[in-house]
Amino acid sequence: MSSKSRPRVARFEDTAATCNEAARRFASICDEAVERCGVFRVALAGGSTPRLLHERLTQPPYRAAIAWEHIDFFWGDERCVPPDHRDSNYRMARETLLAPLGIASERIHRMPADAHDLDAAAREYEREISESFGLEAPGQLPRFDLILLGMGDDGHTASLFPRTPALDERERWVVANPVPDLDSARMTFTYPLIDNAAHVLFLVCGAAKAAALRDVIEGPSDSTRLPSQAVAPVDGELVFLVDGDAARLLDPATLQPAP
Ligand code: 6PG
Repeated sequence: MSSKSRPRVARFEDTAATCNEAARRFASICDEAVERCGVFRVALAGGSTPRLLHERLTQPPYRAAIAWEHIDFFWGDERCVPPDHRDSNYRMARETLLAPLGIASERIHRMPADAHDLDAAAREYEREISESFGLEAPGQLPRFDLILLGMGDDGHTASLFPRTPALDERERWVVANPVPDLDSARMTFTYPLIDNAAHVLFLVCGAAKAAALRDVIEGPSDSTRLPSQAVAPVDGELVFLVDGDAARLLDPATLQPAP
């Protein structure tokens, strides 16, 4: 990314400290959204890193401080597996966050990536998002209060994988995306939906991510190879919360003091 458009990168000691900061930001953005319009709409990230964030949110002070009954939960991407499959992003969130907090089912908007017709299911999810946001005007983009994202060691985010068709989608909000490298398909938010969010928060931890994080943040623009690099909120906040291991190859000038 060019230095002028470089996102904010805040480094923390370890994964626990990084997820604690993510929990603090989750609570703050939630409070502001609920105060402003009575609801907080968040898209959860998949993978394993968010586990620690979810568990932190179910502990003091967040468990009691957050207005859980005013939150609508969505997913930014999902694997094409049943909701009880060990690889399901929904299952991970249900086990680590939604069930422990007793979130009402009508507040949980599972991404139906286990459907036989993935494209129809993606369009159905778009309709569910539109309905939840109460959108009338056709094509009006939903503005999530917070979209949580992870990053793979290949620079992918959500299920926007290198050299896959979803990278070029500029109209749809949610699409099925064939991922040859995984020999499978995924369902994923697209850049237009992600970039319309008020806050986009990457959580990137672990030494395995260091080279990709350096390339995404400091390297030349190459979003086909590094899809995380193309996340660019139109007028929202973009922050990478990273641990020391993931940040070890970054130029110190890139790093912001921990907020
Ligand atoms: C998924 C994701 C994906 C994930 C990254 C990081 O479904 O796998 O949404 O984008 O966030 O691969 O995953 P880890 O947190 O497990 O490293």
